[in-house]
Amino acid sequence: MPVLIKNIKGLIGTDDVAMLKRCGSEMAILNSIPVSYVYIEDEKISDFGRMNEMPENLVQSHFHDTEIIDASGKFVFPSFCDPHTHIVYAGSREQEFADRIRGLSYEEIARRGGGILNSAKKLHETSEDELFDQSIIRINEIIGLGTGAVEIKSGYGLNTEDELKMLRVIRRIKGSAMLEVKSTFLGAHAVPEPFRNERKKYIELIINEMIPVIASEELADYIDVFCDDGFFTIDETEQILMAGIKYGLIPKLHSNEIGNSGGVQVGVKYNALSVDHLERSGADEIEALLDSETMPTLLPGSALFLRLPDPPARKMIDAGLPVALASDFNPGSSPSGNMRLVMSLGCIRLNMLPEEAINAVTINSAYAMGISDTHGSIAKGKVANLFITKEMPSYSFFPYAFGSNLIDTIILKGRINPPTPL
Ligand code: NIG
Ligand code: FE
Repeated sequence: MPVLIKNIKGLIGTDDVAMLKRCGSEMAILNSIPVSYVYIEDEKISDFGRMNEMPENLVQSHFHDTEIIDASGKFVFPSFCDPHTHIVYAGSREQEFADRIRGLSYEEIARRGGGILNSAKKLHETSEDELFDQSIIRINEIIGLGTGAVEIKSGYGLNTEDELKMLRVIRRIKGSAMLEVKSTFLGAHAVPEPFRNERKKYIELIINEMIPVIASEELADYIDVFCDDGFFTIDETEQILMAGIKYGLIPKLHSNEIGNSGGVQVGVKYNALSVDHLERSGADEIEALLDSETMPTLLPGSALFLRLPDPPARKMIDAGLPVALASDFNPGSSPSGNMRLVMSLGCIRLNMLPEEAINAVTINSAYAMGISDTHGSIAKGKVANLFITKEMPSYSFFPYAFGSNLIDTIILKGRINPPTPL
């Protein structure tokens, strides 16, 4: 049934000219329409504008088969797009959380076989159905928190069978949840135990066995490598990306989280859709990104959780770059998929203006997952993924009141409060 949302106090993130991303000073521009309406038909945004310019057929819509929502005092936002998550995982790692509070570092925990390898062990012991059941709980949670599109990585399998298990679970989520899903193969997340002294062999396994089968079963859209100190070198990253590209997988990279790894430059060289983390990056990385179409994607939740230095969002935007924000939802460095908190951290920790942070979790984050032509803003013909807030004084209240639940009604593909799988 068509949906008409009317008397909206502020319709946020509207686009007349479809913009695929916002760069530099454009990030501070947040188009919005006061006292407005949105009309949704066949899962798409079909019309929007000012209430006093609403076409006659919509004014009369209460006579037709249309669901009408009065949003007086409330705001409508495009759903969050979360372009970097590891939401498919087994169990949890609160023990390591406590170990870090006692003084161990993330790297020390990883060296002792904890961290990613700990999650890989748990995932190996978990059946595919159970993995789906655990993951869909988190998917339903992020839908309730306003996320309408999510990128999900493999990378807790670290052998062909378990990587495939993860990717099949991602595909099942794609088929059963109402939000948009993109899938990323991250076999190069860590070197697994059996290959500890033969890392070259693990890289060969990724290149010669995993990538071909994943590509032939069309299980991934993107390929990622944890290109950082203690994980994968520049050289290894290049080999893996080239193999993925050969099979049509577009690169996205983890880099510059632990050290100034040179990963940003590699990402740019291979035309990565995004380079993510970037806590340890500076003028050289900004320079490299300025010459590219690659989206710097920052993960303030994991910087907060691991007490890392904050990534240089302000410097990037001031230099003319776009910035996207993502949750990095995973059991080790960011056990939260709350994109509204991520947006607030963008303001609080990264010094982004409310307008910049909102663009960073909508249009720019849609770009970082390759969907900004269909998601990430309120534009005619885009997928009707949006939410209605509770009553608020202004849109800046949304990142400001960071602990309050301010989302009232979720709409995905034109469905109000979409049914949750399970
Ligand atoms: O993005 N940095 C690499 N990967 C994840 C963490 C994975 C984990 O600790 O399980 C991240 O932070
Ligand atoms: Fe990550």
